[in-house]
Amino acid sequence: MSNNPSAIAFGSINMDLVATTSKLPVPGETLLGNNFFTLPGGKGANQAVALARLGVTTYMVGRVGDDSFGNELLKTLLAAGVNIEKVLVNENVSSGVALINVDDAGENQIIVVPGANGCVDSTNVENLISLLPNCRVLLMQFEIPLPTILLAAQAAKRLGVKVILDPAPAINEVPTELYPLVDIITPNEVEIGMLVGFPVNDLDTAMKATNILLQRGVGCAIAKLGVKGVVCATKEETFFVPSFPVQTVDTVAAGDAFNGALAAALVENLSLRQAVVWGAAAGAIASTISGAQSSLPTKEVLINFLNLRGAMEINL
Ligand code: RIB
Repeated sequence: MSNNPSAIAFGSINMDLVATTSKLPVPGETLLGNNFFTLPGGKGANQAVALARLGVTTYMVGRVGDDSFGNELLKTLLAAGVNIEKVLVNENVSSGVALINVDDAGENQIIVVPGANGCVDSTNVENLISLLPNCRVLLMQFEIPLPTILLAAQAAKRLGVKVILDPAPAINEVPTELYPLVDIITPNEVEIGMLVGFPVNDLDTAMKATNILLQRGVGCAIAKLGVKGVVCATKEETFFVPSFPVQTVDTVAAGDAFNGALAAALVENLSLRQAVVWGAAAGAIASTISGAQSSLPTKEVLINFLNLRGAMEINL
């Protein structure tokens, strides 16, 4: 194991089956698409690759199936510099897949079929625990079974490892005991709305919602509002980071880019404000490029982008 401070991504590993189309279909509608491609994805794997591209020693913990997708997914993680020693291969189970439609405006619809991701269990948690002593941050999302997320968060908390939770895809019932184990939660508009039970679509509602999440016990609540920017709240401060205007091609993995860059900045001991700016910049860059892992910036690209655009954050 490396002695550098490191990060763990505990989550899904999917093959993304992407169709591009001029507009997204409504229920019952058949549309002719423009292009089709398969690309490595999965929120867990995307966040692992985001971290590794930004120079952080990164371990992936999860599962793939013993099919050709699984093979390819492992190769891509390895090529991106992610340590895959703790990725288990399930026999007779398919790897996770995501069926993704992307329209001309870059909006998407995603259906995830978990496959091997749904088999993530206490063995994976034990593997993860063996990595924690050398680790600064643990990134998780909601594409693996909830009980394993809870166990991993408990172990990380015991060892003082920062827990960053991306509550995606959105779910209604988050166990109340999970919140106090989470140092930073990073929902988007839809997800935070589901968590708090009212629509979140502007700064006012985002501030109310982030406050509710703080009351439930998280250390920091970050509402990712897409082009409307980011609201970040802790007990001590609430601030806003505007979005970086870009030409959007495809927002798939923009949220993963945000989380990876936020975590990478914290591993580098940057301030929370700088970390949120890194996240917003990485998310913006990712939405200018098609695909999930293909769109995640290297550190050089991220720093150049920040230097060119300048960056600011505003007290609320
Ligand atoms: O966040 C984007 C990811 O969500 C895609 O790569 C897809 O696999 C789904 O998990």
